[in-house]
Amino acid sequence: MRVAIFGAKDYDREFLGQANAPHGHTLAFFDAHLGAATASLAKGFDAVCAFVNDELGDDCLAELAALGIHTVALRCAGFNNVDLDAAAAHGITVVRVPRYSPEGVAEHAVALILALNRKIYRSYNRVREGNFSLEGLLGFNLHGKTVGVIGTGNIGEAFCTIMRGFGCTVIAADPFPNERCIRLGVEYTELDELLTRADIISLHCPLTPDTHHLIDENAIAKMKPGVMLVNTSRGALVDTVAVIAALKTMKIGYLGLDVYEEEGDMFFEDLSGKIITDDVFSRLLTFPNVLITGHQGFFSAEALASIAATTLQNLSDVEQGKACNNEISAAQLRG
Ligand code: NAI
Repeated sequence: MRVAIFGAKDYDREFLGQANAPHGHTLAFFDAHLGAATASLAKGFDAVCAFVNDELGDDCLAELAALGIHTVALRCAGFNNVDLDAAAAHGITVVRVPRYSPEGVAEHAVALILALNRKIYRSYNRVREGNFSLEGLLGFNLHGKTVGVIGTGNIGEAFCTIMRGFGCTVIAADPFPNERCIRLGVEYTELDELLTRADIISLHCPLTPDTHHLIDENAIAKMKPGVMLVNTSRGALVDTVAVIAALKTMKIGYLGLDVYEEEGDMFFEDLSGKIITDDVFSRLLTFPNVLITGHQGFFSAEALASIAATTLQNLSDVEQGKACNNEISAAQLRG
């Protein structure tokens, strides 16, 4: 299959190139993000391969369909950036990588928790400047704390496993409780109860119309003072303006983000010589108790190898007319 790979980085070229050996697809890599303005680059291809910040709305999908694109292969788990109804209307098959290294993303969430709690990012800078003062670095033990997990699918389950290992009480909210989590000793509660009980809240549910701004002013009001909030899932689960207000009053005591609702214009690019024009994001950066990474939860060697292998297998399955378990459609979501 001839595949146009959008938003391609050197690591995409490396991992997808290696994994393509047994498949023999023709891969072309484009730096540009996929959207209505760039869809024409897919002329002459059969499929496009897209990532989290590509925008596959109706206009983009219509253009792709007109060019003869019949498959969108997402090299990620989330599919909130694809209009699945439009894809179906234009006869485009959408495949994704539902599971590639849930432990890697869960470990990144834990890395944010540990770094925030013990203020590792601050001590790193201090020690390099010969400042060995401990003032302001006081942390707390994770052992015995209550961790609230919103979404206990692949990543949430891996996260629960680690936090149980730390000796935390783990409570969770998910419309579909996970039996393996229950066996780990995870207690399922309603979301409101989780918000009131948790010392640390970690988000692991997908972004859907129902979960957009799940963490808003009302949700924050229910949280414990000084709560730690961690989001490694999708930025728009959190109302950033409400979170900033809560950071100012110290209702939120620690914030760890790997994702940001307006990350599309910034993340994955080196903007170190440019002016950041997003004032909300810039405000977040001013807080000493906020730690942000640029959507790197997925970025482990194991995950990239797995993403590449599954993406190319998905394309081969579609090409060979096989049923592909990783196909995602609006009809399937509606059950
Ligand atoms: P999954 O599909 O295995 O699990 C999601 C869970 O969320 C399911 O159990 C589902 O029932 C639950 N859920 C759905 N709506 C909910 C709600 N309103 N409240 C509570 N739970 C709800 O997905 P997986 O693989 O665990 O990934 C979770 C999310 O992590 C993805 O949707 C993606 O947005 C994000 N992600 C982030 C990465 C990163 O690099 N930071 C990498 C991979 C995924």
